[in-house]
Amino acid sequence: HTLDGKEFGHGAYDVLLEGLRRQEYRGYDSAGVAVIGDEGIEYRKKAGKLVNLANEVEAHPLSESNIGIGHTRWATHGGPTDANAHPHVVDGGKMAVVHNGIIENFAELRTELLAEGVEFKSETDTEIAANLIASIYNKLEDKNLTEALRLASNRLEGAFTILAIHADHKDEVVATRRNSPLVIGLGENENFLGSDVSGFIDYTKSAVEMGQDQIVTITATSYSIIDFEGNAAEGKPYAIEWDAAAAEKGGFDSFMEKEIHEQPAAVRDTLMGRFDEKGNLTLDELKIDDSILRSIDKIIVVACGTAAYAGQVARYAIEHWCRIPTEVELAHEFRYRDPIVNEKTLVVSLSQSGETMDTLMAVRHAQEQGAKVVSICNTTGSTLPRESDAALYTHAGPEIAVASTKAFLSQIAAAYLLGLYLAQLRGNMYKDEIQSVLKELQAMPEKIQAILDNEQQIKDLGIEMKDSDSVLFLGRHVGFPVALEGALKLKEIAYIHAEGFAAGELKHGPIALVEEGQPIFVVVPSPRGRDSLHSKVVSNIQEVRARGAVTIVIAEEGDSTVEPYSNHIIRYPQCPTLLQPLLATVPLQIFACALSGAKGLDVDQPRNLAKSVTVE
Ligand code: G6P
Repeated sequence: HTLDGKEFGHGAYDVLLEGLRRQEYRGYDSAGVAVIGDEGIEYRKKAGKLVNLANEVEAHPLSESNIGIGHTRWATHGGPTDANAHPHVVDGGKMAVVHNGIIENFAELRTELLAEGVEFKSETDTEIAANLIASIYNKLEDKNLTEALRLASNRLEGAFTILAIHADHKDEVVATRRNSPLVIGLGENENFLGSDVSGFIDYTKSAVEMGQDQIVTITATSYSIIDFEGNAAEGKPYAIEWDAAAAEKGGFDSFMEKEIHEQPAAVRDTLMGRFDEKGNLTLDELKIDDSILRSIDKIIVVACGTAAYAGQVARYAIEHWCRIPTEVELAHEFRYRDPIVNEKTLVVSLSQSGETMDTLMAVRHAQEQGAKVVSICNTTGSTLPRESDAALYTHAGPEIAVASTKAFLSQIAAAYLLGLYLAQLRGNMYKDEIQSVLKELQAMPEKIQAILDNEQQIKDLGIEMKDSDSVLFLGRHVGFPVALEGALKLKEIAYIHAEGFAAGELKHGPIALVEEGQPIFVVVPSPRGRDSLHSKVVSNIQEVRARGAVTIVIAEEGDSTVEPYSNHIIRYPQCPTLLQPLLATVPLQIFACALSGAKGLDVDQPRNLAKSVTVE
């Protein structure tokens, strides 16, 4: 914070700590900082919340410095430990690197670097990227840090934002990005980089947006951007209009709204890194013997709340693809009903937090009976994956709002990967069948985005319906759990009595509830789907309309058969029936979120609920 003998700006560590505090919502399982002091790179890193890092720095202070990088982590590769925390310091202590994202080709790069004699201290893909940069840097004659990052970027596959500092380059920070966020903040004789503007909003309101596949080099007084080919590139300067609180929510009114909008990325990241060069599905994390997976004769999915609905969706797909009888049960009910479980049972737990006590008890009970357990989980190093035989992580990033959204979609995506993997292993599907489902899955993020791009219609509906005192939801097949999830969202955050029904069950009872003006959402499957499912649901819409219901119909683009019976139609892009929940759920989330906001309720922290329930 001095330049030409004059005082400027702010001490690096204070800026980093405050920036990390503002971005802690992005990840909070470990944190670290590195600065360049007079003697070179100094760094501190600690597992756990940011306060652990702050305590560590208080106990072992860093030198005064005006340049540094910091990171809060949400583990993907390697659990949340001190060693796996960022920064990763390489090149004999001279270079420090932090990274967000997932390096898909880490295994190949690791082998290459091991052959060069590199020794790894952590289980992270970041350390591999850091060593790659160092190795390239040391081969450069002119020791140009920007060039090293550029060359390394061309070798990295996946999604990444990487920042590097080097003791021999005391006045610059170099950063590269592909598919992960990075913004530049321009201050007076001080410049900043952040995953979003909340990291530096206390110091400047002037920012520069970067493009895809670009590298930026900043000093206290300059910034320059190049692309991965080395051509100069322009950033897009803009003024930050948000205050600090709005910045943390990315400009959205609530974390829930922000997380709804993160769903394309959450699904994309969950699918990422799970295929080999030949396009085969490889679930490396699934450390259960193939022979055991081949011999299982029953699958039981255990979960609670929203995760249990993801399980119900997955059941349709797993049974269809693998021909293994699959049950889905609320964990607390499963645990206390003397279930039939043995060595040939595969129990799949679904949990965002990995700490839900009911689910944990169910898993322990199943293990006592000899079952193998796979946990699909969003939180690396949490109890459920730790106690399971294998973990399959969703990469949705931290979910802050109590009502689950992006975790739900990622859980479905991960459970589908598991289903396809079992089908591949057990030979239930031809390779090209699997490939075609995978291709459809990979197209989903874009389709989810298309729904988000048209959200205003749904928001308006939520606002218009804010005084409803009862809302019903109907669906068949995979649309049934979607209806249940739509109803749950409305109960959770809008405190409206809401019920989801299997549309076929309507005539056996629930139709007695329908009277003039009753709002009913109907999730309609694709008209191109099998088994006349579509026409059955259209009949159900007619039945409730005839009894005075106001119908809000979630239907595929181009499906005109629903038009005569719909008061409102919300469209989703064409997709195969089994993948439809990844789309049809999104409008229901947006609706509940908008309605809750219109009622003036606390969307993110609804009354009586907790994000993670660690009691039975
Ligand atoms: C709590 C939350 C729900 C969540 C459920 C399961 O009840 O309020 O939103 O769906 O727990 O949580 P998990 O972390 O296991 O997915």
